[in-house]
Amino acid sequence: MRGIGTDFEIRSNATVINGQEIPTDSWTNVTPTVLAKINRKLHLQPQNPISIIRQLIESNFQNFKTFNTYSPIVTTKQNFDDLYIPKEHPSRTKSDNYYFNKDTVLRAHTSAHQLQGLASGENKFLISGDVYRRDEIDSSHYPVFHQIEGVFYTDNNVAQLNAELESIRNEKTSNIELVDNTIIKPDNPYQDCHSPEAVDLISAHLKHSINFMIRNLFAEEKDLKVRWIDAYFPFTSPSWEVEIYYEGKWLEVLGCGVVNQRILNQAGLHNKIGWAFGMGLERLAMVLFGIPDIRLFWSEDKRFLKQFTPGKINKFVPFSKYPPCIKDISFWIPDDKWHGNDFCELVRGVAGDIVETVELIDDFRNPKTGKRSLCYRINYRSMDRNVTNEEINQIQEKVRSAVRSEMNVELR
Ligand code: PHE
Repeated sequence: MRGIGTDFEIRSNATVINGQEIPTDSWTNVTPTVLAKINRKLHLQPQNPISIIRQLIESNFQNFKTFNTYSPIVTTKQNFDDLYIPKEHPSRTKSDNYYFNKDTVLRAHTSAHQLQGLASGENKFLISGDVYRRDEIDSSHYPVFHQIEGVFYTDNNVAQLNAELESIRNEKTSNIELVDNTIIKPDNPYQDCHSPEAVDLISAHLKHSINFMIRNLFAEEKDLKVRWIDAYFPFTSPSWEVEIYYEGKWLEVLGCGVVNQRILNQAGLHNKIGWAFGMGLERLAMVLFGIPDIRLFWSEDKRFLKQFTPGKINKFVPFSKYPPCIKDISFWIPDDKWHGNDFCELVRGVAGDIVETVELIDDFRNPKTGKRSLCYRINYRSMDRNVTNEEINQIQEKVRSAVRSEMNVELR
């Protein structure tokens, strides 16, 4: 199949993408929908809010080198092993990732490039890029999104760490109401090889840098509330998540922590200590620009892009929404091994971006036969035109026959 934008072809024995030929195997599950997005690079399109946010974030990290053009096609070693993600970890499964084959995957996070960044010799850098995860479908989830990663390290001695902290002291973080009850404890520990004093200093540097960036991104927000909570990542310890209180809700914005020393050691940086963070750009951009649907970032409609200016955050003015068309599909599933993500993927694969949401509305087990029946509601809506009921009926028919043949269900 030929994609618009990206040149690719899924053959039975190989996937050909941008001239690269990647052999297929039993792990292969990349789809035309996602392959077609690889060359879009929204984080590098100056007019796109994703790129505007990326640049605003970068401007808060003085003297950080930026790496924004690493290929999203990475090895499973880069995406998982190098980060000490255990072999059996659920984040490795086929139902969560897009595999070209058992060793090659579309990166699921920008952390996949931490080692590459470290190998560059820079001690402070940012990496941004498109990342890919199989997920549910709704107004805030899309299988392709964007992340920015930050990494900083310095000499592991108290004098140097104090000097680093001193050098960012003039970065103001005033007018933030900070909620941070994280104290280092056994379930979010220091690494054995680190002195508590060094970890406290590098953590202070991390927290100050992040709070400063958030303060500036939400410059318009008078009473900004930021909350630090304990978290777990195999590639950092201690680890935290940062949330922002925005319009009555806590919004998770990033994950971060003190870099797993084995990663620095792998890069030959034995006497250094560092921090890393990774944050998604879509959710932030949706909040800051007031963008109601994640699919809009991909729109090539001029009414969308012409509203934005590089370097500036302004509220999006929605253009008229076209009416939705709702269709339900119900079926008996063959056994209890059912992955909702696979179903969403299939729907997206058949119907494309016209699918707004897929929602499980009924899950029923026949008490006599023990058979389980599911009903999903698919909401179809185009971002830029009216859809007719006949057109959607045809798509729904294709969805039905694909679900029947590929997921082995009995349609009702
Ligand atoms: N890679 C993590 C994610 O995608 C975020 C992260 C990056 C956490 C760096 C800690 C350090 O969720």
